[in-house]
Amino acid sequence: MSVNVGVIGTGNMGAHHALTLHGYVSGARVTMLYDADAQRAEDLCEHIPGAKVASSALQVVDDPGTDALVIASPDATHAPLVLAALRVGKPVLCEKPLAPTTAECAAVVQAERQAVGNAGAPLVSMGFMRRFDPGYAEIKASLDARALGLPLLVHCASRGVSSGPGTTTESAIVGSAVHELDLIPWLLGEPIVAVGWHRPRSAGQVDGFQDPQLFVLRSRSDVVTTVELFLNARYGYDIRCEVVCEGGTLSLGHPRATVTNAEQMHYLLHPLDWRPRFADAYRLELQEWVTSIALDRPGTLAGAADATRAAEVADAIIASIGTDGRETAVEYQAL
Ligand SMILES: NC(=O)c1ccc[n+]([C@@H]2O[C@H](COP(=O)([O-])OP(=O)(O)OC[C@H]3O[C@@H](n4cnc5c(N)ncnc54)[C@H](O)[C@@H]3O)[C@@H](O)[C@H]2O)c1
Repeated sequence: MSVNVGVIGTGNMGAHHALTLHGYVSGARVTMLYDADAQRAEDLCEHIPGAKVASSALQVVDDPGTDALVIASPDATHAPLVLAALRVGKPVLCEKPLAPTTAECAAVVQAERQAVGNAGAPLVSMGFMRRFDPGYAEIKASLDARALGLPLLVHCASRGVSSGPGTTTESAIVGSAVHELDLIPWLLGEPIVAVGWHRPRSAGQVDGFQDPQLFVLRSRSDVVTTVELFLNARYGYDIRCEVVCEGGTLSLGHPRATVTNAEQMHYLLHPLDWRPRFADAYRLELQEWVTSIALDRPGTLAGAADATRAAEVADAIIASIGTDGRETAVEYQAL
């Protein structure tokens, strides 16, 4: 039996998810698409036989032939759509962030609890796909096994080619660095308790916000993480992570398997954006999500509470902007 999936928001991310579900995920059928720009949904529909275009997001949510939902519309629409999905008891894979504010995130956590009770499989899964990237997964497995002893330090860099229009210092944290804010507690198995924000020289090609930014995150047992966030690094999309342990280090390898030799150079090409870089992670994430629904068991994706915790850390970083590195405690609400 296949899981019939409706996709809301068919821009860059939603189209990628729909095509991955259609082409690479066993047990999934994409049955319905909706986008506020109807032409986008129509164009995508031509590549997915059997799918149809809905006239509203709620039509996708309520359609009796739709078993589960992917939400990849703009950030502010996520929480209302997830709440609508919870009202009809359908599993939902929501792109990050769950909501622009932690209060809205917490409201989703409460609504999910009411919908499924304490024993039921969670209904809300989050698109923190890096948990499924083979490199990060190997680092996590090694850390869990304490193969190199205790972790001491983590160094992360998140570099892109250029930022989108309207990016601010704060939106770069909430929209981009949020991946690290989910990953670090997941890798270390403990929460971030304090953060610091540093202002390096801003790059000349950047106008109107601070880029790069540097954060320092302190975990409960004093593992210190540095996160460089540089959206306008120009040369390519480059995600780095190195964990320094007592007995050695663990680092993400380069995502390209092929080395090019040409014009007296020997090089590896960087991807242009996150879609090729994390294509395997998106596919593995979607497969785990669909399989968990088909088997009615909890999946291993991040959930609404994880998204709330990441948003709380983002809030602490934003609160510490301009303090030149002074540590700010992260305040977690009871969930
Ligand atoms: N996990 C990741 O790595 C990752 C990467 C990129 C984007 N995202 C997230 O995915 C979401 C979409 O980002 P994107 O890059 O695809 O943006 P995008 O602008 O390419 O696509 C958004 C789409 O939503 C449509 N839309 C606008 N309002 C809508 C509404 N009310 N209902 C339905 N559709 C609506 C737009 O017409 C557009 O087609 C964002 O929340 C973003 O944060 C996640």
